[in-house]
Amino acid sequence: MDTIAMIINKDKNKLKFPRGFLWGAATSSHQVEGGTKNQWSEWEKENANKLVKLAEAKWQDWQKNKFPEMFNPQNYISGQACDHYNRYEEDFNIAKELGHNVHRFSIEWSRVEPEEGKFDEKEIEHYRNVIKALRERGMEPFVTLWHWTNPLWLEEKGGCESKKFSFYFSRYAKFVAENLKDDVKFWITINEPTSVIASAYMQNSWPPQKKSLIAAWKLYRSFARAHIEAYKAIHSVSKKSKVGFANILHSFKSYHKITWMDDVSIFFARYFTNRRMLNLTHGYNDFLTVQYYFHNRFKFPRKIRLNDKPVNDLNWEMYPHGIYRILKHLKQHKLPIYITENGLADAGDSKREKFIKDHLKWIHKAISEGVDVRGYFYWSLLDNFEWDKGFWPRFGLVEINYDTLERKIRPSAWKYAEICKSNELKYDY
Ligand code: BGC
Repeated sequence: MDTIAMIINKDKNKLKFPRGFLWGAATSSHQVEGGTKNQWSEWEKENANKLVKLAEAKWQDWQKNKFPEMFNPQNYISGQACDHYNRYEEDFNIAKELGHNVHRFSIEWSRVEPEEGKFDEKEIEHYRNVIKALRERGMEPFVTLWHWTNPLWLEEKGGCESKKFSFYFSRYAKFVAENLKDDVKFWITINEPTSVIASAYMQNSWPPQKKSLIAAWKLYRSFARAHIEAYKAIHSVSKKSKVGFANILHSFKSYHKITWMDDVSIFFARYFTNRRMLNLTHGYNDFLTVQYYFHNRFKFPRKIRLNDKPVNDLNWEMYPHGIYRILKHLKQHKLPIYITENGLADAGDSKREKFIKDHLKWIHKAISEGVDVRGYFYWSLLDNFEWDKGFWPRFGLVEINYDTLERKIRPSAWKYAEICKSNELKYDY
């Protein structure tokens, strides 16, 4: 990597990134592939009608008017999604055209191990071809092993709560690594464990919709164990591998001028969202990741919303400065850092270019202050199935017409492409 001095440009509006910086986008199997059969696909079918009813109370009027799809039960069924399983070459052609030199995707566990202990060679061959297609187009693969979906046999045994979750997960990780080790260097074991703990076990909105603080508490250790076992399994078959997990990191701000009461809430929220998984996996990460979407404002004892702040289509506040504070904090770990997700739902594509540039500006500042950031993955390459919210939130650099499956590159994707291709951000506003 370049020295800090080399990335500081005299022209203040032109920010140069370190040589070899990785530029790309991310996806996950269940959200784009289509045709998956796992605990989410089953839950969607059972809950589509309920989710329609919930939408009425959950979203603001402007969102309901803009996205009437949220009142159609089909919106909540992943079904064929983007059919990326069959169209990955077409999608990677687009990524290549957009100047990406890295791509993050996930392997669907339920395809590779559809029955307990029985691995499907055909599916491994599929993912071998996916990786080959990336390499042929000059993109480094970042492979996620678990992006929230469990095979049905595992779900019957208790899913992530099973005492043997780490055993099953590391056995699967080892199988995949043994088969793909020659073509993959970067492995991400588990995607955002704390999002699953919060949404499935505390807020009751994702499967298995079990509101239980005890289960939530135990899951931290269970996910940490799964990561560590998988870390060891991957390293046992491939010494050159780099292994980490994908961590969602929130930014926090207190509301009152005298902040100590708000700070108490922030202390606990920050510990359970940002810190605990990192502490529990200490020593078992070859790199760190940042997945940044949320800026949380606290007015003791809870989170609040301020109406005058810029938001995306999901009404999430956009706060680019937050990523800088997160990165500065991670510096102490002295590990390479990849921004493995950062993005927004913006169907009209009117905010995406500025969103990306603003975040990159802060990331660049962190790099210039010695934080070892080595790559940025926009979420997501394609519009996709946004879990319990279904298809209406549009995160893609590429727009998907879900009737025809036609792909259309959004204007902001070309703006991001300029940055990827030149390794430099022209910041002209
Ligand atoms: C997840 C993605 C999701 C994105 C936007 C991340 O937390 O990893 O699967 O689509 O956020 O909500």
